[in-house]
Amino acid sequence: MIKKAIILAGGTGSRLRPATLSVNKHLLPIYDKPLVYYPLSLMMLIGIKNILIIINKGEKKLFYNLLGDGSHLGINIKYKEQNKPNGIPEAFIIGKNFINGDKVALILGDNIFYGQGLIEILKKNKKFTKGAKIFTYPVQNPKDFGVVEIKKNKISKILEKPRNTKSNLAITGLYFFDKNVSKYSKTLKPSKRNELEIVDLLNIYKKKNKLNADIIGRGGAWLDTGSINDFYKTTAFVQAIENQ
Ligand code: DAU
Repeated sequence: MIKKAIILAGGTGSRLRPATLSVNKHLLPIYDKPLVYYPLSLMMLIGIKNILIIINKGEKKLFYNLLGDGSHLGINIKYKEQNKPNGIPEAFIIGKNFINGDKVALILGDNIFYGQGLIEILKKNKKFTKGAKIFTYPVQNPKDFGVVEIKKNKISKILEKPRNTKSNLAITGLYFFDKNVSKYSKTLKPSKRNELEIVDLLNIYKKKNKLNADIIGRGGAWLDTGSINDFYKTTAFVQAIENQ
């Protein structure tokens, strides 16, 4: 059973400049709430109460002013700084003591998931025992994401922003990992863009036949807020849902 989650809320937000020049993107509002509320509330909805939020250097006070230690929400929030955006798997190196040999969920702080059906899928998956679990979502622009290729009902390839792929299954920014995640993350080498890559970590699990994927289907929606257009589309989507 997964009882801990890391929310990765650092990075430069370069595609949202100038809005992010002096403000962390995860503090900007999507409709009526700061972006970071959405991944945080998803973790709470699936019953995870121990949360580590990874932020940029010098930002702890800003996030603490917003969320404190989580006790008013019935959860426990810790914070750790990332010196610079060295890549998603660095979360498991920075968070090694927090993870402390347990299973852990990672959610990217700029990913928004919606839907009751999805909560049920995630609650079931929380009970997984070994390996790693990813959640895919069909998209029209797969080359903007990590992508899963499936052959004969098995994952055949995991690729980061592939130029050519026949698959439309994006890897969403929610991952469940077993106790080996910090150990495997430490073995990763920076890629050409000088980052530790989440697909390299997933490929370690895949090679060991310990990577599983679930498709987020009709019961749920997944929205990315990477570009300014996505940011405003997501705001409109949330506004429409909240005012239904
Ligand atoms: O949104 C899902 C996609 O997220 C996946 O399909 C991709 O496989 C995955 O690499 C990632 O792609 P992005 O291009 O969206 O990643 P980005 O660099 O924008 O970072 C995603 C979030 O993680 C964002 O909230 C910033 C945070 N982050 C990222 C990095 C690399 C950090 O806090 N620290 C980091 O070092």
